[in-house]
Amino acid sequence: MGTEQRETIGVVGTGYVGLVTAVGFAELGSEVWCIDIDEQKIENLKQGRIPIWEPGLEELVAKHADRMHYSTSLDDALEHARLLFVAVGTPPTYSGDADLSAVHAVVEAMPASDKHAIVMKSTVPCGTGDNIKRVFREQGKGELKYVSCPEFLKEGSAIKDFLEPDRNVIGDEGDWAGDAVVALYEALDAPILRTDIRSAEMVKLASNAFLATKISFINEIANVCEETGADVVEVAKGMGLDGRIGSQFLQAGIGFGGSCFPKDVTALKQLAGNSGYHFQLLNSVIEVNELQKRRVIAKLEKHLGSLVGKEIGLLGLAFKPNTDDMRDASSLVLSARLQAAGARVRAYDPVAEEEARKLISGVDFKSSSQEVADGADAVVLVTEWSEFGDIDLADLAKRMRGSLLVDGRNFLDPVAARRVGLIYEAIGRPSGNGQIG
Ligand code: UGA
Repeated sequence: MGTEQRETIGVVGTGYVGLVTAVGFAELGSEVWCIDIDEQKIENLKQGRIPIWEPGLEELVAKHADRMHYSTSLDDALEHARLLFVAVGTPPTYSGDADLSAVHAVVEAMPASDKHAIVMKSTVPCGTGDNIKRVFREQGKGELKYVSCPEFLKEGSAIKDFLEPDRNVIGDEGDWAGDAVVALYEALDAPILRTDIRSAEMVKLASNAFLATKISFINEIANVCEETGADVVEVAKGMGLDGRIGSQFLQAGIGFGGSCFPKDVTALKQLAGNSGYHFQLLNSVIEVNELQKRRVIAKLEKHLGSLVGKEIGLLGLAFKPNTDDMRDASSLVLSARLQAAGARVRAYDPVAEEEARKLISGVDFKSSSQEVADGADAVVLVTEWSEFGDIDLADLAKRMRGSLLVDGRNFLDPVAARRVGLIYEAIGRPSGNGQIG
């Protein structure tokens, strides 16, 4: 990267989006002031301790230790930077709307200034920017600028997504703040869409909702494949080769989870509903996803009959690989349903155990896939961690009491599994048990 002088920025919120944004801009040459109200977090960051598990993050933060500054005081950021990126949490409320209290706390704390701008990274409902500008005006802070700059990075590949994005979207009113944010992102070799604030806000919500729709769509195709004998993996390949469809996000499985899709799809549905529009399609996307998490139970019952007293092993718990994030993970519903059906559940996740323990009860946590298999009636692959691709299936089969392997992510090789005598069930793939090859 070039070493020319780059704009110093402030980032409020040192969670997943905030830290990646901060260190991403540090990598591009900026000094960055990271602000958080959590004193312990800031103290840890000063010691080089990172609060989340994200590949490459700790190393990059260490590499730019001299450019990364940490403080609990917003004033520190305002003193050094014109642009204040806001990356605080916007979790769902009971009504399904986004909780904007952390965003509003930052808005309230902003002083009147014609030299500063808020750059919104947090995922917020369409119309939030206009509401914040109204608040600024009412509080005599109308000179503050506002830019919407939604985030599209994925957990597990966040650094790469920041540095090699498909696009960046910047919504503003054509002022100096928008120019400055565009200049920051121009250092990356990616298209920039500069547009109005409301459209930028909607690009974010619509993108997540579309990707979630793609997943629910392929999951329904998988379910029809199970009825018709087609193989969804082949079907997705054939569909994905059509450039209009694209091959990404067509992996059938046990449903989407995480801190974004479930929350954002519901938030968009509510946003539409609050404006008087019934977003029919998104209702189905949500419902299909809920049912998808439970279909594994039927697959287990098909082979084991009643699950009362059965030993079921789960491989992986995180909502996807390469993260310890357990928010809305499909494993939460699955482990609870299994226990409700009378099964005893044991589980192993390479990274997410600590987070899982906070949310899951009654599960026996193991420290390897072998321990999960020992004496199990069935094993379910829940998260496609790469280490599960290297599992010795013959050893797994020997360790188990039963012989049922349910692959919730279509990740393992069906032929290899059946060759060692396992009954292999996947999502939307022909059962083929009893035949080899
Ligand atoms: C998602 C979006 O992909 C990002 O672009 C966005 O910035 C982010 O939300 C956000 O709003 O912050 P993320 O939640 O990190 O990113 O993870 P994804 O890789 O999108 O996966 C979400 C869920 O969908 C996972 O449970 C994953 O297992 C599932 N999934 C994904 C499938 O079931 N099938 C697929 O083909 C792809």
